[in-house]
Amino acid sequence: MPNLSQGANGPQREGKLFRVGVYITVHAATEQRLDDEVAHVQSLLASLLLDARPATFRQLQGWISALPLGVDLLDQRRSMDTAALSASFPFASPDLAVEASPTAVLYGLNAASSGVVVWDRWALDSYNSVVLARSGAGKSYFCKLDLLRNLYAGVSAAVVDPEDEYSRLAEAVGGTVIRLGAPGVHLNPLDLALDETAKRDALTRRALFLHTLLAVMLGRPLEPRRRAALDRALVAAYAKAGISTDRRTWNRAVGPNQHLPSDWSTYGADGNSDGTANPHNVYDSALASARELCMSGGESADFNDRDQLSRALFRYNNADWYVDQVLTEIDRFDAVPGIPAADGPTGQGGRTAVEWVLQQLGKPYVYGANGPDAFDCSSLVQGAWAAAGVDIPRVTKKRGSC
Ligand SMILES: Nc1ncnc2c1ncn2[C@@H]1O[C@H](COP(=O)(O)OP(=O)(O)OP(=O)(O)O)[C@@H](O)[C@H]1O
Ligand SMILES: [Mg+2]
Repeated sequence: MPNLSQGANGPQREGKLFRVGVYITVHAATEQRLDDEVAHVQSLLASLLLDARPATFRQLQGWISALPLGVDLLDQRRSMDTAALSASFPFASPDLAVEASPTAVLYGLNAASSGVVVWDRWALDSYNSVVLARSGAGKSYFCKLDLLRNLYAGVSAAVVDPEDEYSRLAEAVGGTVIRLGAPGVHLNPLDLALDETAKRDALTRRALFLHTLLAVMLGRPLEPRRRAALDRALVAAYAKAGISTDRRTWNRAVGPNQHLPSDWSTYGADGNSDGTANPHNVYDSALASARELCMSGGESADFNDRDQLSRALFRYNNADWYVDQVLTEIDRFDAVPGIPAADGPTGQGGRTAVEWVLQQLGKPYVYGANGPDAFDCSSLVQGAWAAAGVDIPRVTKKRGSC
């Protein structure tokens, strides 16, 4: 096909004339099979409105012409212009167009053409797909492959898995398996859906959903009186978790240890035995943080075991530097010598210290003073413990306490 490449690279919309011969070699193991194949090729070409003729008595010339030698011994050519030539080109690709976007997924090779099949479902108007095949054909395999490769592309996935087929996959990629019905595992219907697509009226939608949910659970629609009561109860329940119609409260962390409402509902606890679990109470907040750290791995971690402690810290913040830093701080804290308790079994140290302080009452506060006639905070504390026989540095920072 002389001039073809020149024609393709030439000025657009400018037709050229070509002298074209298209030769197809058909292979077969037996003469009978060859006849069948030739008939098949002829009918295929006829369907493309191409009239194919066997090279009767000229098979050798035909065979040589079809070799990639640039030799045409058959000399069966037609004159065609660019448009006719491109229309008659019989090899339309059965491949999908290869998508080059970052979320495109490689599905495999096309069995017919060996072309790669790359598809980006996120580039389409609808992301949905349905996989249909006979039993055992590889549907699950395909879905897992799709899932894995989408994960590589940064897509996060949730799988509803009634037959427990995906837990190994979840484990391999560091996913979380939530086993509904197991003790301690629950879905909280009050949880607000707070991803980046959260609607402005997420709270209202959630309240409507809860009305529907309760109606379904009760088996009948709620009458107006109950609906009103339910609305009041919902507002009160959300208010208790610090959530109001103000969007900023929806995922607001509360309390000294900044608990998210959803975490508080799981790990919140009464740390000072006052009968309520309050995220703003420092004891409750500290206990909740410890519970979260301990339980968030699905089973309780033993913090006396250094490995379990490290793993729990890593779960909380996936960074080795963070784990190292916290462990170092824990070691530093543990290395601080114990301070005798005021009335503990170690003796009278605390009491002696307090009594010494009381004897200093009336002496002036002078910044930097070291006693005995005037004190500042540091020297008073240092002097008190010295009276009890405990030697501590003057300033808090050096004491290593927090
Ligand atoms: N492309 C593949 N390469 C290697 N193994 C495969 C491939 N596709 C499927 N298999 C294997 O074939 C078997 C059946 O596949 P799979 O379980 O995915 O089929 P299925 O269509 O989901 O079947 P069912 O209808 O029973 O759910 C599995 O052992 C799977 O690992
Ligand atoms: Mg399957």
